[in-house]
Amino acid sequence: MGKGFPEGFFWGGATAANQFEGAWNVDGRGPSVDDHITGGSYKEPRTLTVDIKPDVLYPNHDGIDFYHHYEEDIALFAEMGFNMFRMSISWSRIFPNGDDAEPNEAGLAFYDRVFDCCHAHNIEPLVTLSHYEMPYALIEKYNGWESRELIAIFEKYCKTVFERYQDKVKYWLTFNEINCGIMQFGALLETSMCRGYEGPVSGIETTMQQRCQALHHQFVASGRVVKYAHEHYPQFKMGNMDCFILSYAATCDPVDVLANHWEMNKTNWYCSDVQVRGAYPAWAPRFWRENGVKLDIQPGDMDDIAAGTVDFYPFSYYMSNIVGTHDVEQTAGNMTFGGKNPYLESTDWGWQIDPDGLRYALNLLYDRYQIPLMVVENGMGAYDEVEADGSIHDPYRIDYLKRHVRAMREAIDDGVDLMGYTWWGPIDLVSAGTGEMRKRYGFIHVDKYDDGTGTYERRRKDSFYAYQKIIKSNGTEGLDD
Ligand code: BG6
Repeated sequence: MGKGFPEGFFWGGATAANQFEGAWNVDGRGPSVDDHITGGSYKEPRTLTVDIKPDVLYPNHDGIDFYHHYEEDIALFAEMGFNMFRMSISWSRIFPNGDDAEPNEAGLAFYDRVFDCCHAHNIEPLVTLSHYEMPYALIEKYNGWESRELIAIFEKYCKTVFERYQDKVKYWLTFNEINCGIMQFGALLETSMCRGYEGPVSGIETTMQQRCQALHHQFVASGRVVKYAHEHYPQFKMGNMDCFILSYAATCDPVDVLANHWEMNKTNWYCSDVQVRGAYPAWAPRFWRENGVKLDIQPGDMDDIAAGTVDFYPFSYYMSNIVGTHDVEQTAGNMTFGGKNPYLESTDWGWQIDPDGLRYALNLLYDRYQIPLMVVENGMGAYDEVEADGSIHDPYRIDYLKRHVRAMREAIDDGVDLMGYTWWGPIDLVSAGTGEMRKRYGFIHVDKYDDGTGTYERRRKDSFYAYQKIIKSNGTEGLDD
């Protein structure tokens, strides 16, 4: 067995405001894009509506009502032993329209209470500044990140929350899964270029030109914000955040190997190279040329990007897929579709379970960047049954957890500098992809259902105790039994 997890390793869970806070129109909060999206399922895409219709159920409106349950929830996280809690600030709770002159004090005060509660339990907050939730008014006015105006608007929002929480938050992430912006589906939640669109979310169409330009605006915004944070708050640690979509060549045909290489370039390295290395990768001009992209890069943009490189590399990891030029059967995955791997099993939502892939990803990333890494999302969506006595037995989730934690242990022994692990959805919350509650990730069950019913009561699942055992022993117990 290897040397195990370093002292001070961060163990915790990860959430996003729009998927669990609820209270969507309470205390001055403005609607975000998620408040305009209906529920869906594995087979049925969610629908985006321009207006919020009174007779339609929008699952993010109530989430799991963390807004009114945060003390109870953070106490449960502490009981599991968390020393880190990843959450996001809802941009439209602070600036209801995104570009308001003054922030909403009630929104700011809410996060003061949440951070204070975390610290009272010795839990370090890890805060995502923008997790899939553009204020809807910015979509109507600017078509999201398509507009360069968003850079200054985002900077103002970040400066406001930095100033307010400088003594309460040390670890910050700029954009959740920024690399999803390069893919067609990212136009909804990442770059929010969906002005006036009404219909199934799978039908939103953008060009590669629009997507690369929107990402460029986000890179400049992130660079400026990271630089500002380093200059004004030297205690801050700034990270980007990528959805690491690991893919393997489907066969040893060199054509497949190259196809996979380019897929990895586009899907993963395009964004992370910019944020970690401070420059576009060498192959970017060819990629732009072949995809009809003519990037508008203003004087000073590349300096801002170069000056705002991140301190650590946090990423989500759920699954892997394969890429090839021969017949490849497709399956679902995190925010995307990919090739089916005959050697892997899948969740009920078609996501292929690949703990060895996590070890591989950690090695790839550390070899490439040589900065500390953090797994800030990893988890398994599954159907859970509540027994007559209220217990919830979830061996599938425990198995997934242990296998991925073992993979991290191996990677640390390989020499990877890994700072922490925050499980996605330590408490059941609304799925980003499908809007479902029944796709449950939590160690804590929430009595909330897809038809909007439920008491919001919280219950510990078996996995609650499994994770508690792992955390309490810093990964020396509860992994191999
Ligand atoms: C990540 C997102 O990609 O995957 C989360 O950052 C999301 O917001 C998570 O919830 C799981 O995806 P889903 O679609 O099952 O909720």
